[in-house]
Amino acid sequence: MTTTETTATGQRDDLPSDVAGWLELDRQYRIPGRYDISQVLVRGEGVRVWDADGKEYIDFESGQVCTSTGHCHPAYTQAIIDQAKTLVQTGSGYTSPARVKLAKKLAEIMPGNLERSYFACTGSEATEVALRLAKLYTGRSEIVSLQRGYHGMTHASLSVTGLGGKFKAIPGSGLLGNVFIPAPYAYRNPFPGAAEGDDMDFFRQGMETINWTSTGKPAAIILEVVMSVGGMIVPSKAYVQAVRKWCDETGALMIIDEAQSGVGRTGKWFAIEHFDVVPDIITTSKSLGGGIPLCGVTTTREIAERAAELGFHQSSSHTDDPFLAAVGLAHVEILENEGLVQNAADEGGYLKNALEGFRDRYDIVGDVRGLGMMLGIEIVTDKASKTASPLHATAISQYCRDNGLLLGHRPTGAVSGNVIRILPPLTLNREESDQALAILEAAIQHAQKSVEITEADGTGWMK
Ligand SMILES: Cc1ncc(COP(=O)(O)O)c(C=O)c1O
Repeated sequence: MTTTETTATGQRDDLPSDVAGWLELDRQYRIPGRYDISQVLVRGEGVRVWDADGKEYIDFESGQVCTSTGHCHPAYTQAIIDQAKTLVQTGSGYTSPARVKLAKKLAEIMPGNLERSYFACTGSEATEVALRLAKLYTGRSEIVSLQRGYHGMTHASLSVTGLGGKFKAIPGSGLLGNVFIPAPYAYRNPFPGAAEGDDMDFFRQGMETINWTSTGKPAAIILEVVMSVGGMIVPSKAYVQAVRKWCDETGALMIIDEAQSGVGRTGKWFAIEHFDVVPDIITTSKSLGGGIPLCGVTTTREIAERAAELGFHQSSSHTDDPFLAAVGLAHVEILENEGLVQNAADEGGYLKNALEGFRDRYDIVGDVRGLGMMLGIEIVTDKASKTASPLHATAISQYCRDNGLLLGHRPTGAVSGNVIRILPPLTLNREESDQALAILEAAIQHAQKSVEITEADGTGWMK
């Protein structure tokens, strides 16, 4: 089906009016290679989105983990309109009140003495900037990162990303001098004799790897303290504190990537606060802008000033854009004014409690992890064997999608990981939680009953 649409500038075009039509047109004009796209979303409001057929969904992924204040929050939309009418863009040689106010606000909510910020557009860009800053400041080149960590898809950010397969499917090498250490994945602990939840053997193994494969004095370590894409893995406080101590001893900078976990999502402004540690650099992006492309790199005055003396030069066409900064500031203010960081803690706690109930009731729910509204459930064939089951996970996310709930797991038809991620807007209320949980529980029951695993399915990749 097609309809005639008139654009904002008065041009007319015959365009599709349903999901099938848009998908067909999309295929004509797309370089394939992202996901197996099967959804066409046209509108969002609060925790809900609607597709081109008019079907309604609860969005438990917050767009791509960006829309913390919900889709099209009225004050957020108003801030976009106001700044669009005032000043959208300036050259890199200028500053603006919007930029200054956002940097000041970040300095207020960041832990410790992190007070100097640089702004640009994406999480990948933030990683690039943080790595360059660390290399310049320390005069060193090696970087340590974690297997399963995700830091972006530009050259350096992909080089420090610890996800293989399709993520690394490019000819040629990444950056040299990167050392990967194991993720602190306590649920699947291969070290003999470790107590439940103890992840310190992973730390010791990591130190061993660094010492055998590098100078032992790298420029930095970069990590997420809630490893989202890698399977919603949360290190222990002891692990994160040991990383800080190691940084102090070796002179490596501690970079915490808070693209997803930052700006309220875990029930504190920054996830690192759960660990009583102050890093040297925090990167922010998705949850900073609330949907518009804004990222930040924030560090101490000492590091910023020393790097400047050493010639730090970082710029892109959209560095510090007033439009991005003003909307980002409005996003942070809405979170503050409406108590949404506390809601992430409270309603996230309610969700986690319910998910733990699912774990107790269903054999295919092996583990529940996460902080605030950054939660994951690990799906297995059965609790006793802990065999990872992407097939069950796919059946769950497919069922949820068919029944109006979008999760952080893509039912592509192919197997795509066995951890289902739950990242709703921080505006989520009890009624919306209960509605989503009812769909999810029915999906788990459906998967447990209907999915049959045969040897040919090869689900034991992570046993
Ligand atoms: C922790 C983390 N860092 C960096 C990135 C990259 O951000 P972007 O996709 O905006 O480049 C992501 C994106 O998912 C992320 O989750």
